[in-house]
Amino acid sequence: MINAPSLANCGLFTMAEEMDGMIRGGVNFVHIDIMDGHYVPNIFFPLSIVQAVRKRYPNLTIDVHLMVTNPEDYVDRMREDGADYLSFHIDSTRFSRRLIDSIQQSGMKAGVVINPSQPISLLEPLVRFVDYVVLMTVEPGFAGQPFMHDALERLDELQKLKKETDTHFMISIDGGIDREHSAECMKRGAEILVSGIYTVFGQPEGLEKACASYQKEMETIQKEAGFIGLGAICLCEKENIS
Ligand code: DX5
Ligand code: ZN
Repeated sequence: MINAPSLANCGLFTMAEEMDGMIRGGVNFVHIDIMDGHYVPNIFFPLSIVQAVRKRYPNLTIDVHLMVTNPEDYVDRMREDGADYLSFHIDSTRFSRRLIDSIQQSGMKAGVVINPSQPISLLEPLVRFVDYVVLMTVEPGFAGQPFMHDALERLDELQKLKKETDTHFMISIDGGIDREHSAECMKRGAEILVSGIYTVFGQPEGLEKACASYQKEMETIQKEAGFIGLGAICLCEKENIS
């Protein structure tokens, strides 16, 4: 399970402190939202955030979620600035296959994002090619919205598609997840959990402790459910453990 805190939940004046806290709490993967005011009715972060985060935290895995029109225009800049994962919305381009190729050729993992109002079947032509699928569990554009409950059924549908197509993409869940939903999503095969206001930010124990306890809690649930995620399988193969 990957805990991917969404930096959109950081305070603008306290971001560095908050990020230091997350890292002390065991975070090694962060989710950065880029909104252009066209694809979604919000403008947030400036692109320069990616380079700034990369400079300060050279070992952090940076996952950029593009909520923009013309996502192809951002690939080179994101790579140069240090992104590791780059995802785009399925309806933000007419040429998803070309975009997936160009993201992967530039050395990043390519992800496709699907909104709550779009059928899972839209992903069918792409799942063989992407490294990950981001299932939105809120309408994109704003942090702090409530989780849409039918998302669990949609996650089951996505898992079904994964099995039927015998593909190996990772599943990321983005929007409004609390600890209960996190556990439900993990049991249904989600591996990257974008954490926000209901899981690690704004918790009474502070961000560092909340990140550590969230990770521990989710790993315990994972073990109890006997679930071994794709990330863990890859690691086992690499280290020759069975
Ligand atoms: C919503 C964003 C999310 C959001 C997650 O458009 O894509 O990444 O910041 O944070 P919460 O779960 O707090 O809404
Ligand atoms: Zn996001």
